[in-house]
Amino acid sequence: MIDLSKLAEPGSIEESLLERIDFKRMPRHIAVIMDGNGRWAKSRNLPRVEGHRAGIASVREIVETAARLELGVITLYAFSVENWKRPRYEVATLMLLLKEYLRKELATLMDNNIRFVPIGRVDGLDETVQRELRYAQEQTARNTGLLFQIALNYGGRAEIVDTVNRIMALLREREMSDAVIDEAFFSDHLYTANVDDPDLLIRTSGELRVSNFLLWQIAYAEIHVTKVLWPDFRRRHLFEAIIDFQARDRRYGGVEEADAQMFIEADENRA
Ligand code: FPP
Repeated sequence: MIDLSKLAEPGSIEESLLERIDFKRMPRHIAVIMDGNGRWAKSRNLPRVEGHRAGIASVREIVETAARLELGVITLYAFSVENWKRPRYEVATLMLLLKEYLRKELATLMDNNIRFVPIGRVDGLDETVQRELRYAQEQTARNTGLLFQIALNYGGRAEIVDTVNRIMALLREREMSDAVIDEAFFSDHLYTANVDDPDLLIRTSGELRVSNFLLWQIAYAEIHVTKVLWPDFRRRHLFEAIIDFQARDRRYGGVEEADAQMFIEADENRA
């Protein structure tokens, strides 16, 4: 049972937003492109890395809120395969912040029954980062609440290529090289095997791009773009995104039930 008192103070904006959420129609999986850290820092005449540092507070609040809302999965895009092109100092600081975050937040992840899983080409990260990631993953492996996936050294195309190679190796090993695979089999070999696809993709800072994030998995996701920069993104913005999601008409390429009925009746009348 969701404890609303842990999500909003009486009389707050958060409380009025929560009243507009239908808890029976929650997205099971929310994916987030955390963007705008650099602009946040620039607008304050601070170095870019200060934007990333401030972004950690948003990560903390959003992950905890997702757990309290009893969502199934949250996936955050923290470092893409393209992000290596950034200045060395920025990359090094991002990795340092990640290690710091994992060390400081492990207790909170445990307290909130959160299971932590990194996705991406994790073996391409520095060994010290990999060690912290492994430790957090192992420690939280038996938690049964929110699944918190963090995308690191991640690329949607890279994931698809890795999946193709993984499947080819598997089929070779089983001497089934001429097997025909289907979408379900392909999905089961992605980094996100056994995880429901995102229902809602949030992007902060106003850019209208998917930036190589979960390309296969977002096929039917609703997209919510907000101008809010990631370091300013708070619980109330997550509530707004969920309200927006619930106002959408999800048809998965079909038509709405009432419309479908109308077509059937029209056909019958014609016959
Ligand atoms: C995009 O902002 C953000 C990133 C590339 C990194 C996101 C990382 C964090 C929020 C902190 C680290 C996360 C964890 C979980 C420890 P940008 O730099 O592209 O912003 P800009 O478009 O305004 O320049």
